[in-house]
Amino acid sequence: MTVSVAPRERKEAGRSQQEVAENRAELLLAWYDRHRRRLPWRAALGERADAYQVWLSEIMLQQTTVKAVGPYFEKFLARWSDVTALARASVDDVLRMWAGLGYYSRARNLHACAVAVARDYGGVFPDTEEGLRSLPGIGPYTAAAIAAIAFDRPTMPVDGNIERVTSRLFAVEEALPQAKPRIQELATTLLGPSRAGDSAQALMDLGATICTPKRPACALCPLNAGCAARALGTQEALPRKAPKKAGAQRRGAAFVVTRGDELLVRTRPDKGLLGGMTEVPGSDWRAGLEDAAALVQAPALKGLTRWHRKAGVVTHVFTHFPLELVVYTARTAAETRAPKGMRWVPIATLVDEALPNVMRKVIAHGLDI
Ligand code: ADE
Repeated sequence: MTVSVAPRERKEAGRSQQEVAENRAELLLAWYDRHRRRLPWRAALGERADAYQVWLSEIMLQQTTVKAVGPYFEKFLARWSDVTALARASVDDVLRMWAGLGYYSRARNLHACAVAVARDYGGVFPDTEEGLRSLPGIGPYTAAAIAAIAFDRPTMPVDGNIERVTSRLFAVEEALPQAKPRIQELATTLLGPSRAGDSAQALMDLGATICTPKRPACALCPLNAGCAARALGTQEALPRKAPKKAGAQRRGAAFVVTRGDELLVRTRPDKGLLGGMTEVPGSDWRAGLEDAAALVQAPALKGLTRWHRKAGVVTHVFTHFPLELVVYTARTAAETRAPKGMRWVPIATLVDEALPNVMRKVIAHGLDI
């Protein structure tokens, strides 16, 4: 019988920094081989992941949880199996499939990037960070993630999980975001001589499952013996963060107008927040906007004079500001024409619209569904 034994942390005292780093890289990969999360975009052990799938997952995972991304990733892959297929899709179809995932400029960039890869690279993703960064929607982090995971380039993409693990392992006291360059440098020392993508994903998984923000399970951590924060008892306090300036709350009104079993909607301008997405008509969103000033922005519909104000408000938090919307409802007569730039859609087909979450909440509130 053969028994596989995971490598153990060797005594760090008296060893060179390079030996310590190599030992950590090895421990991390051994841990990953046993405990990695099975995620839909990950290749089987020992296999290289497909660049299209890595790219698609990394774009979806920007500011979005693994749990939320899973079903969207599967849906996209079933519909567009490679980058040239996605390049042939319309941007509206991509937006519709993206609806609900948030940060919609990602969907526009996703499409633009697929078009660029199909047109400029013959449908094959460039395999360097620099080449990847020249593409729409791919910043330094995402370029590093794709280069490491899909092409085994020796680079470390540092996300929030890796920031936490690294700041604890090395007891970095400097606060984020100032500490980012230092953390990047330290995290890079955890790369082994090969398998860069696995080293990065090992740190992501360690951060997500063991080195959690609260009550980290240090006893289960493969790097616990050499963890500086654990030795000092400061692990839960790290990483330190500079206080964030919260954006001022904005207010506005949304108008849920029905004509029989149809709803009045419009499409937001292509550029800017929720660009190209579907919404019900509404006022502008401003800090301190008074209800009366919002109500005068209601759409003008023939024969419609009475608005019903729904009790309560709909709240939503965007990256830069929290939003509070008052919802007004009205019913119009059959044959009422939609104002310019607006259209009636059957409520039953709203699922086919590119509706952002804030609008799903507004419609549910307005229609009591
Ligand atoms: N977050 C961003 N990229 C990820 C990946 N490849 N695996 C797990 N979480 C991630």
